[in-house]
Amino acid sequence: MKLGLEGKRALVLGASKGIGRGIAQGLADEGVRVAIASRNLNATKAAAGEIGSGTLAFPCDSAHADQIDALASDVQAQLGGVDILVLNSGGPPPGKAQGVSSDQWRASFDAMFVNLVRLADHLLPGMIEWKFGRIISVISSGVIQPIPNLAISNAIRPALVGWGKTLAAEVASHGVTVNAIAPGRISTDRLKQLDTANAQRTGRSMDEVEASAKAGIPAGRYGNVEEFAAMAVFLASERASFTTGSILRVDGGQISSH
Ligand SMILES: NC(=O)c1ccc[n+]([C@@H]2O[C@H](COP(=O)([O-])OP(=O)(O)OC[C@H]3O[C@@H](n4cnc5c(N)ncnc54)[C@H](OP(=O)(O)O)[C@@H]3O)[C@@H](O)[C@H]2O)c1
Repeated sequence: MKLGLEGKRALVLGASKGIGRGIAQGLADEGVRVAIASRNLNATKAAAGEIGSGTLAFPCDSAHADQIDALASDVQAQLGGVDILVLNSGGPPPGKAQGVSSDQWRASFDAMFVNLVRLADHLLPGMIEWKFGRIISVISSGVIQPIPNLAISNAIRPALVGWGKTLAAEVASHGVTVNAIAPGRISTDRLKQLDTANAQRTGRSMDEVEASAKAGIPAGRYGNVEEFAAMAVFLASERASFTTGSILRVDGGQISSH
């Protein structure tokens, strides 16, 4: 299948490693001119160098609106805008629903919702003008089946789904699609950190924690970033032009509902 991505431009946030990095690589491999951003500029530059194909690297912390504004304007200046925007950021700290401070709720909402939407608002007018755009949010299986001890993620990510669904209807006639991908358990540093915290909290070994998590995944294993990226690359492509307002799952069958 020809994906029609050659020469398109993409910005992937949260892409020095993990899922974002995998998506950036997948897009670059299809001939997309990619810009990546994350907080650590050195790590982002190193990732850009490895991705190759002239990948651009920018610093950006999604917790700060001014850095989002600067990123959008840098990308406009250097790429003339983007056709594909991947809204990805770091995950929030694990923890229970009870006792989260108001400051923590507000900071997480800014980093995981308000400023991602702000970035999209900056870059959408170009997509509408060119009659082609793809906005892809990386969310979590927790929006469908809340994950114990990940209260902030379970509570805030659904906002991105509601926003995306509403936006999808507003921009569909302009050739712009808006979708979200829900990872189940994808092997990254973040997953390792969560499993480590789980092992410490429950007094189990890492092997026990991983074995019990894998027992809940029909595929019997964690996914890898390439498997996740393949879905993002397809959604970014010309071929996915009639898929919008959807949540796609990449979870090895983990989410048990329809
Ligand atoms: N892996 C999974 O199984 C899984 C499951 C469900 C949901 N998710 C969610 O999917 C997203 C990506 O996960 P991952 O596993 O790839 O995580 P990861 O391995 O920790 O990578 C996160 C990436 O985002 C960047 N980042 C972190 N905080 C940022 C911020 N405030 N602003 C901009 N960039 C930031 C990091 O670089 P810097 O540190 O340099 O900023 C890094 O490049 C996260 O939101 C995670 O919660 C993952």
